[in-house]
Amino acid sequence: MSRIGLFFGSSSGNTRRIAKMIKKRYDDATMADALNVNKATPELVAGYDFLILGTPTLGEGDLPGLEADCQQPSWAEFLPQLRDVDFSGKTVALYGLGDQEKYPEHFVDAMGLLYEFLTARGARVVGSWPTDDYDYIASRAEVEGDFVGLALDQDNQKQLTEDRLAAWLQLIARDFGL
Ligand SMILES: Cc1cc2nc3c(=O)[nH]c(=O)nc-3n(C[C@H](O)[C@H](O)[C@H](O)COP(=O)(O)O)c2cc1C
Repeated sequence: MSRIGLFFGSSSGNTRRIAKMIKKRYDDATMADALNVNKATPELVAGYDFLILGTPTLGEGDLPGLEADCQQPSWAEFLPQLRDVDFSGKTVALYGLGDQEKYPEHFVDAMGLLYEFLTARGARVVGSWPTDDYDYIASRAEVEGDFVGLALDQDNQKQLTEDRLAAWLQLIARDFGL
C-alpha cells in the first residue's frame, strides 16, 4: 500500500485533473492512485496516516454531491460515512477548486467544510496557503488570514495552477516525509 492516500470529488473534472497532476509526481510506493470518493470506502481512508484530499465548491458554497446537481454521489454523501473515523495521528493536506469571479462570497468554501470536519475529528491539517493573488469577498476556507489548503481557480487563473501546485507540494513535503 502507498504511504499517502489521494482522494477527490469532482463534477466537471477539474479537481480530478489536479489529483492526476499530483500523483504523476510521485511513485506508487509514495502516492496512491487518485481515487474518486464515489469509489472510496471509510476503511480505505482510515488506512492512511497521510492524506491529500481535493474538492471543488458547488451550489452556493457547498460540497459536491447529488444535491449540488452532480451526476454521481461525491463528498456530500461520503463525508458522513467518515464520521466515526479517528483522524488523530493523521496528517492531511487539502486543495480546493473554485471560481472567485462568479462566486466571490463563497470562494472555495467546500475546502473549509472539509477542514472543519477533519479538525473536529483530530486531524492535523497542514499546507495552509496565502490569500494574496486572489480576488474574492469571503471564503469559509479562510482561517486567520490564510486558506486552510491550496486554493485553485481553473476558471480565472488557470495559468497560475502549475506553479501554485509545485510550490504547495514543496510546502507540505516535510510534513509528508517527501
Ligand atoms: C453550479 C456551480 C456552482 C458553483 N459554486 C461555486 C461556489 O459557491 N464557490 C466557488 O468557489 N466556486 C463555485 N463553482 C466553481 C467550481 O468550483 C469550479 O468551476 C471548479 O473548478 C469545478 O471543479 P470540478 O470540475 O472538479 O467539478 C461553481 C460551479 C458551478 C458549475
